[in-house]
Amino acid sequence: MVIFGITGDLARKMTFRALYRLERRKLLTCPILGVAADDISVAELMSRAREAITATEGSVEDDVFDRLAQRFSYLHGDVTDAGLYRQLAEKVGDAEQPLYYLEMPPALFGPIVEQLGKAGLAGNARVAVEKPFGDDLESARRLNDRLHRVLDEEQILRVDHFLGKEPVIELEYLRFANTALSEVWDRRSVSAIQITMAEDFGVEDRGSFYDAVGALRDVVQNHLLQVLALVAMEPPTSAGGNELRDKKVEVFRAIPPIDVAHYVRGQYDGYADVPGVAADSETETYTALRLQIDNWRWYGVPVFVRAGKGLPHKVTEVRLFLRRTPPLPFLPKPAQAAPNQIVLRIDPDPGLRLQISALGKDALHPVHLDTLFAEQLGELLLPYERLLHDALHGDRRLFAREDAVEETWRIVQPLLDDPPAVHRYERGSWGPDEANKLVRGYPGWQQPWLADS
Ligand code: BG6
Repeated sequence: MVIFGITGDLARKMTFRALYRLERRKLLTCPILGVAADDISVAELMSRAREAITATEGSVEDDVFDRLAQRFSYLHGDVTDAGLYRQLAEKVGDAEQPLYYLEMPPALFGPIVEQLGKAGLAGNARVAVEKPFGDDLESARRLNDRLHRVLDEEQILRVDHFLGKEPVIELEYLRFANTALSEVWDRRSVSAIQITMAEDFGVEDRGSFYDAVGALRDVVQNHLLQVLALVAMEPPTSAGGNELRDKKVEVFRAIPPIDVAHYVRGQYDGYADVPGVAADSETETYTALRLQIDNWRWYGVPVFVRAGKGLPHKVTEVRLFLRRTPPLPFLPKPAQAAPNQIVLRIDPDPGLRLQISALGKDALHPVHLDTLFAEQLGELLLPYERLLHDALHGDRRLFAREDAVEETWRIVQPLLDDPPAVHRYERGSWGPDEANKLVRGYPGWQQPWLADS
């Protein structure tokens, strides 16, 4: 496994921890070569790795860390320089199926893959690339074309860490292994869907990256649309590498480009003061939108998606509203129960909630049936742990395929072409008031299912 960008932020926050946990589970079997520009020794790299693991995992077991450290070697140089790839070729030697993992700025994906190709290193390789994959439909197509000049689609693994989150993976099983859920999971029973991704922190030290991107590109086009595809897809007919991804892309194909009239953008107060952000920035840190899925299962069911930074809580959830039962004369006033809601909490503390109505002393009350997956199912794998493992084994199911990436850009493209004005919102609020107009006539935005509620 060759990791480009091993001295970077992502490696520090995610990769070392994931590798350490895989090592602990005895799931790592290959040597690891780190590549980056910094002229450091492998000992220095490993001391940074230990620090990173301690900071993220809390503690380090020496024997596990030593085993991991023994796998590592390090190569430094300029990734656009052919000389680096000659050295790489010597190190990689005749590895049967190397995995190149590019934790690099997207502008370097093309140049690195081309260099791998020229050096004869791409033939039997797999290449995993981090997000973002393009910044609109046109650039995603160009990037796909560029990579395809060297690699087959089967060799490319586009990382979207949301696809490695256990509750997101769980969607496929919850939906299709349970009649209690599958029977209500369509337009006959569901009246609306809400997806919320709220973060209680701001852009902090990522100003210059974020200001060029904004919430729509950062988390909606990729993470949240991928989640939606799993919420809405038909059951895969086999466990094959492309089957699940075929089903997801069918959902995307049924989603028309989003109408800009159904799109709200917000920016939290103080965002423009973040280092790296333009003083007159119009970038959104909050986005809310409505889309539709024009297929047999979902026609007429509005899907609302909102995501934002500087909101009151960190929580990501999917919420389905079921249709109301009819008003019945024997029910206490008001004689119509609130609609049932099914909530899948993705973060934090993943779980499933069913909200039903029950008669208390003298009126109908919403009550909750909750399950927390960790309590019932044991410790869950971290997203990067699973994705790195799958990448090493060539299991492509949890990676975004070319057509899905292009479809999702097509869906959001009108919003990129013609973005409406941003509305300011107070940090710690639920975003601009305009977002409430979006849901008028439908169930309003709900307070998400929080850890202690
Ligand atoms: C990243 C975004 O892809 O996902 C960040 O760039 C965001 O802005 C992060 O905070 C959220 O990931 P998670 O796993 O913490 O929900």
